Amino acid sequence: MSIPTIVHLRRARTSLVLDGRGPGLPRVVHWGADLGPVPADDLPGLVDATVPPVVPSSFDAPTVLSVLPEAGAGWSGRPALAGHRDGTAWSTAFHLDGLDVEDPEEGTARAIVRASDADAQLSLTVEIDLDPTGLLLLRHRLRNDGVTPYELRELAPVLPVPAVATELLDLTGRWCRERSPQRHPWPMGTWVREGRHGRTGHDATLLLVAGTAGFGFGHGEVWAVHTAWSGDHVTFAERRPTGESTLGGGELLAPGEVVLAPGAEYATPLLYAAFSDDGLDGLSDVLHTHLRARPSHPRTPRPVTLNVWEAVYFDHDLARLTALADHAAEVGVERFVLDDGWFRGRRHDRAGLGDWFVDTDVWPDGLHPLIDHVTGRGLRFGLWVEPEMVNPDSETFRAHPEWVLSVPGRFPPEWRHQQVLDLAHPDAYAYLLGRLDAILTEHPGISYLKWDHNRDLTEAGHHGRPGVHEQTLAVYRLLDELRARHPGVEIESCASGGARVDLEILRRTDRVWASDCNDALERLAIQRWTGLLLPPELVGTHVGPERSHTTHRVHDLGFRAATALFGHHGIEWDIGAISAEERRELAAWVALHKRLRPLLHGGRVVRVDHPDPAVWAHGVVAHDGSRAVYAVARLATSVAQVPGPVRLPGLDPRRRYAVRPAVGAPEPAVLQLTEPGWGPGTTLGGTVLATVGLQMPALHPEQTVLLEVTAVD
Ligand code: DGJ
Repeated sequence: MSIPTIVHLRRARTSLVLDGRGPGLPRVVHWGADLGPVPADDLPGLVDATVPPVVPSSFDAPTVLSVLPEAGAGWSGRPALAGHRDGTAWSTAFHLDGLDVEDPEEGTARAIVRASDADAQLSLTVEIDLDPTGLLLLRHRLRNDGVTPYELRELAPVLPVPAVATELLDLTGRWCRERSPQRHPWPMGTWVREGRHGRTGHDATLLLVAGTAGFGFGHGEVWAVHTAWSGDHVTFAERRPTGESTLGGGELLAPGEVVLAPGAEYATPLLYAAFSDDGLDGLSDVLHTHLRARPSHPRTPRPVTLNVWEAVYFDHDLARLTALADHAAEVGVERFVLDDGWFRGRRHDRAGLGDWFVDTDVWPDGLHPLIDHVTGRGLRFGLWVEPEMVNPDSETFRAHPEWVLSVPGRFPPEWRHQQVLDLAHPDAYAYLLGRLDAILTEHPGISYLKWDHNRDLTEAGHHGRPGVHEQTLAVYRLLDELRARHPGVEIESCASGGARVDLEILRRTDRVWASDCNDALERLAIQRWTGLLLPPELVGTHVGPERSHTTHRVHDLGFRAATALFGHHGIEWDIGAISAEERRELAAWVALHKRLRPLLHGGRVVRVDHPDPAVWAHGVVAHDGSRAVYAVARLATSVAQVPGPVRLPGLDPRRRYAVRPAVGAPEPAVLQLTEPGWGPGTTLGGTVLATVGLQMPALHPEQTVLLEVTAVD
């Protein structure tokens, strides 16, 4: 057994101090700013410094939060573990059996807590990783050591947050309006964000952030958690009159969903936890750096993608699609994705899902002529699938109604005329794996799947019991198995737009579709907040048609393209139906994206706290400080005719920079008699640009100016 100790782990700008002296579970003494090299002799004093006094009308000993707060240790907040063994073992008092620490010079630091409760007959393992970026990854594992079943209702890692965090920020949303921020003071009580959609959800908060008063993109101390799970899940913030503040998250389990047989174990989803002392941009930096360091992170240039959905919908026609591919090649597109509508019976959204065979009524010679045409033009080819779904009007459903997730005696209410296949049913799983494998094997030209998921799971029963947990694991298995069989195929996670965006699905997919809304004004917000968690190269951002299909708003190509520039760039538009002049302009934007792509997909993302809410600015700065690109968008008119200079954050304060409107970007529409006092040729220091900033052209509403900033020394 390892020696009971106080552990101080440090990575990047984050420290984690654990009091592992037992006999109970270790306690997180500090998670936050780097404390520097605290001498070992000072660690007991550091722990003592955080022990509160005993006050009237309370327990007779100070209450401190362990890695799994328990009622037996005086915790009367939200239970981190809830479960029982036929009405017993409902409260635990874990005994620390071991605390193993690996803290190499480089790489991830790791603490593993092993504990058990002999009375409850449960063992607990807590895995805590502090990765080189300072990101914490937490997972609990609970094993049933008894001889009778143990029903688990909830198990969620929680972390303490200091009292200086007084405000909360999280995200919610709906179809076409994903990731809408909501911010408020952190009151006493529990702020609980639950998703019972059987998928991550349009309303999922990618991060739940607690911060010091007034925190912004570039300032303030902030702590944030992300619950990495694509099924039902909860993320919560709790602040108690007894003085504790916590953040946590885990899986939401239905009654009877997880019953551990003797010897069986349950593992929580990973809880990602990030700290920054320079605001939300600092949080994103930690998360983006972590994601980019993953071996599975896409490292090849992200191909500019044309997805045909808004161009043709279900109207599949070889001649029209090959012509579209030709136009795509002409404007510089590198990947062509055939969306919904290619398989048997799928002439509309009321039939066909589940019948994963090419529809020879529409494709008499199969998909090969289109794939050959597309790949012959030098583009990659992608195909849309929605494997988990079935239309009642399909051969698959008619043959196997028992494959549908449901409760005995009735099917769930339909949603987009579809039901969900039970992937924990071995035959349904084998059918899907077989069909997807066969499609990819028969068409080696397919190098990309757009994997969709267009309904919530409701009453999702498996053999009469709640089935979302097993369904989620089965989807992960299916993706893993397909990837192992077809390692060259990239996968996009789409779910009616952005309803399956989380870090667990992203372990087995290469990008997400942020939203079905391609309206650039809406997209600015959706992308800004999706980008809190994900770096631009993981987020699909397409130029839509002039009049948005989902909002009816009209935007110039410049505004649409400048918005779509900052992501995994693409087009969702019938570019066969536009003028040659528009195609030339679009091609210029695609070329600009390609030129800036290494910077956009590798640099540090920054966003600007501008006092005028109608002025939004964001940018990407190269990690070596050599260059940056910024977009300044005018969302609406403002009361102030000149809203004031825009600061350009993130540059190297010791260097000088040349600033100019981005070369190759058509000029935005403005209402001004003269240009601002600066122009191409202006050279200023990084500190001046970040502190004083630059006056922007007097943009009309829904216009964006792009700036390129290049170090000159
Ligand atoms: C929903 C997706 O988000 C869209 O992009 C499109 O693929 C449709 N499904 C197709 O049915």
